[in-house]
Amino acid sequence: MTEKLDLDDIQGNILRAYGGQGFPKARYVFFNVQNAAKGRRFVEQLRRRITTAARWDNPKQGRPFHRGHHPRLVDAVRAKGLADYPGEVRLTKPRVAINIAFTFCGLMALDMPTRTLREMPDEFIDGMERRAPVLGDTAYLDRRDAIWRNSHGETQVHILVSLNAEMQPDGAPVAELDAETAWLERLCAESEGGVVLLRGHGPDDASYQAMSAVLTPGPDGVPIPSNKEHFGFSDGFGDPVFEGQFTPQAEALRVVGGGKIDGDQTWLPLAAGEFLLGHPDEAQEIPGAAMPIDFSRNGTFMVYRKLHENVGSFSDYIAAQSAIYGRVVGIADPGQAADTLRAKIVGRWPDGVPLMNAPTHKDWKAFQARLAKATAADDKAELARIAADYVNFKYRPDPVGNRCPVTAHMRRMNTRDMLDPAFGSKNPKDWNGSVLNNRRRILRRGLPYGAVDAAAPSDAGEHGIVFIAYCSSLFRQFEFVQQQWIQYGLDFNAGSDTCPLLGNHDGEAKFVIPPDIDSDAPPFICDRVPQLVEPRGGDYFFVPSMTALRMIGMGIVDPT
Ligand code: HEM
Repeated sequence: MTEKLDLDDIQGNILRAYGGQGFPKARYVFFNVQNAAKGRRFVEQLRRRITTAARWDNPKQGRPFHRGHHPRLVDAVRAKGLADYPGEVRLTKPRVAINIAFTFCGLMALDMPTRTLREMPDEFIDGMERRAPVLGDTAYLDRRDAIWRNSHGETQVHILVSLNAEMQPDGAPVAELDAETAWLERLCAESEGGVVLLRGHGPDDASYQAMSAVLTPGPDGVPIPSNKEHFGFSDGFGDPVFEGQFTPQAEALRVVGGGKIDGDQTWLPLAAGEFLLGHPDEAQEIPGAAMPIDFSRNGTFMVYRKLHENVGSFSDYIAAQSAIYGRVVGIADPGQAADTLRAKIVGRWPDGVPLMNAPTHKDWKAFQARLAKATAADDKAELARIAADYVNFKYRPDPVGNRCPVTAHMRRMNTRDMLDPAFGSKNPKDWNGSVLNNRRRILRRGLPYGAVDAAAPSDAGEHGIVFIAYCSSLFRQFEFVQQQWIQYGLDFNAGSDTCPLLGNHDGEAKFVIPPDIDSDAPPFICDRVPQLVEPRGGDYFFVPSMTALRMIGMGIVDPT
């Protein structure tokens, strides 16, 4: 029986990926607390406007698209999934979702008790800058935005307030976003110096980090928010599903491909404690948390990481390397060779179709034809099956990576059943499923920022992804993935080969693509992979429950 969560007590951005929920625009605003009492008053005033995870009675408002880049795919999936919990109270979906989070220094500046602070995990106390050697950021510290380079003393980041907004038909954010931003600025001014808004985002020294889904022209030229990132891939398919996150009906649909894999190969929701403090985790333990327990329970930790994308280098590398790749593996058409190389790097074709369910270019085209046919016929049952095929796969049928390279970005980030100690066993009785991977999952909640000229992609400029992840343990989940699976390749028998998309590439970086299953070709080695992604700053935040937020705002945290 799945756990029932207290949705009113949990901040909404943990359970919901706002980008796909009709909020394609965002502004993240950062503050420094200069006076604890005034800072707490600021928090207390904000608290009343925070968006919780309570379910909405109008969830489709502002949702012109969804995962799988095709609206009907989602409708097909969601049709059965939105049934109510009996008696559940629902709220009206806002036009702007507002959430709040604190750095460790922020909690200190708000005068949280020492006992509470000292029970916070080390990596959160350290903050992202001091964890640079662990994360592989050391070489990029000087390239960070001013707000992160100068995050010390009176310009130290303490509070993050996120505003995620709906969009108008012309592609601009709804007017409510300006109104909420102005309200936030007013609240800050009224704190009489207690709280200061920090500038320093991007080359314009902006007063907030703006983000937007990449807009694509829809019918009649009306811009439609897409799930594309700036390298051109559709993103946001793979996301963990955990107990209590969805209604039971929605969970039953989403758990396939999103949950954990049991020894008998069924999909189950992950334990809520992997993503929310104060709940049993995958080890059936309630992990140690800052006291009192009400301060931690239903809260979690957040990674905020601005990642610049070198789109010019990516485009040049694909053009040059795919010409060689096509020759070696026998793909004559340059466009096909380029798309195949792109897919091998990520693990999905540019439109999100996974290599595991469409390993060759021909299979990909067949998948697209199946989708087009089901769409034309409005065949809901088939659309629901197709929607599942975007996420429903395991790696056991592909031990060497003939379909999806073992070191492709996606396969590293969520190893599914690949690290089962009995992965190679032919006897299903030995199989353990995804048990090792289950402690490394993260909820991804980011949006792109900036714009790219697709006709002339260049590294220069202001564009990338603001990567946001939630997990109960930054150390065990996010940092492990970032350090071991992005910046090393040992778990994949790939020595020190880093992630082809995200890893640090020192000029000698390589990426090995095993041949197709029925091919005699040798493995193809992509050499001298350029640096494709560069961190531009960020930090770790504590995302409190509504109860804890009240305790912070009112200054009533009693750790005894
Ligand atoms: C510029 C930065 C990044 C880009 C362009 C990028 C791109 C992608 C793409 C295209 C996918 C496939 C779509 C999907 O399965 O949802 C993906 C999946 C994923 N990425 Fe990234 N990513 C970036 C950063 C990161 C970082 C920093 C992490 C973790 C530390 C990460 C973790 C994941 C995970 C967990 C998945 C889902 C895998 C699955 O569930 O099968 N990504 N990413």
